[in-house]
Amino acid sequence: MQHRVAAIGGDGIGPEILAAGREVLDAAGERFGFDIAWTDFDLGAERYLDTGELVTEEDLQDLSQFRAIYFGAIGDDRVKPGILEKGILLAIRFHFDQFINLRPIKLLDGVSTPLANKGPEDIDFVVVRENTEDFYVGIGSHMKGAHEKKVLEVARNLYTIKFGLDVETDADEIAYQIGVVTRAGAERAIRYAFDLAMARERRVTSVDKANVLSDVYGLWRDVFLGVAADYPDVATEFNFVDAVTMWFVKNPEWFDVVVTPNMFGDIITDLGAMIQGGLGLAPGGNINPAGTSMFEPIHGSAPKYRGKDVANPLATIWAGSMLLDHIGEREAAKAVLGAIEQSIRGGFVTRDMGGTRRTSEVGEHIASLVME
Ligand code: IPM
Ligand code: MN
Repeated sequence: MQHRVAAIGGDGIGPEILAAGREVLDAAGERFGFDIAWTDFDLGAERYLDTGELVTEEDLQDLSQFRAIYFGAIGDDRVKPGILEKGILLAIRFHFDQFINLRPIKLLDGVSTPLANKGPEDIDFVVVRENTEDFYVGIGSHMKGAHEKKVLEVARNLYTIKFGLDVETDADEIAYQIGVVTRAGAERAIRYAFDLAMARERRVTSVDKANVLSDVYGLWRDVFLGVAADYPDVATEFNFVDAVTMWFVKNPEWFDVVVTPNMFGDIITDLGAMIQGGLGLAPGGNINPAGTSMFEPIHGSAPKYRGKDVANPLATIWAGSMLLDHIGEREAAKAVLGAIEQSIRGGFVTRDMGGTRRTSEVGEHIASLVME
């Protein structure tokens, strides 16, 4: 059996952590009888600085031939924040309509959490982050001299609707950004969360801010209640996003599946990463169940550690395990996660986790554990 997988190392520590991950996935293939045919894509700051290209139509065309993309990290000090993130990472998520961002928050055996008196049995939930809507749709503007125009017309073709806003303003300089929730967009994410909960502890928490942003998240809640009615065996609750940051710290054991719009999902999964032991341990999958999905660590490119072989590859290796699961190699996926845990228990970890091992050594070690 052969799987074709696209690989994007990207910037900073991206290429190193991805190399470690690939070594582990190749080992899993050897052990479980499949082969991964990798195709490298040279996307990132270097190419952007050389050619001005981010992700091109041709890249997207080529990437569309793959069911899975294995992604390192993006971001570079020489490029203004937002250019690479929006032009590469978000461009891929949106182009392939990867409407789920799946982020497990699980404290692995042997990892320490900053939460007092909490252990692996307490911290084990999954955040389903809607990944194509909300404040990430890119509708916004920043203008000076607005008082002369008096009226802002907001139109946008993304959903081929005209927002039809006539905003009177006295402000001279003004910026705005619009969040969009559609019934269909919310429904597919929420349904995914309920399906997932059916295979877990059957509890779904919706995280929103419907008490203030009542249009967008009022619709979200409406959809949530509608979907919940199809799953009578699943317990449900609503949490406001400010409150949930408190509950994640105080009672993480309460959560099973958390479903949330895009921006809150971004924010609360960094908090989740910390309670599961740090950003070095937090993986994510950008999923389109019927298309091209992309698996990555949720941390960034840490440019100052670039080329030093010190970055923690565990989030990337774990994302690789999610990739294997996604392409149907369930046993291999479990074995990779098991090997990560074994490596941690044995103290074979990088500096950030209190060890002395290098990125490449951790990759080699986990690859050898997978083969055993
Ligand atoms: C993440 C990142 C991205 C996001 C950025 C880099 C665009 O923070 O994957 O969480 O906001 O989604
Ligand atoms: Mn983030």
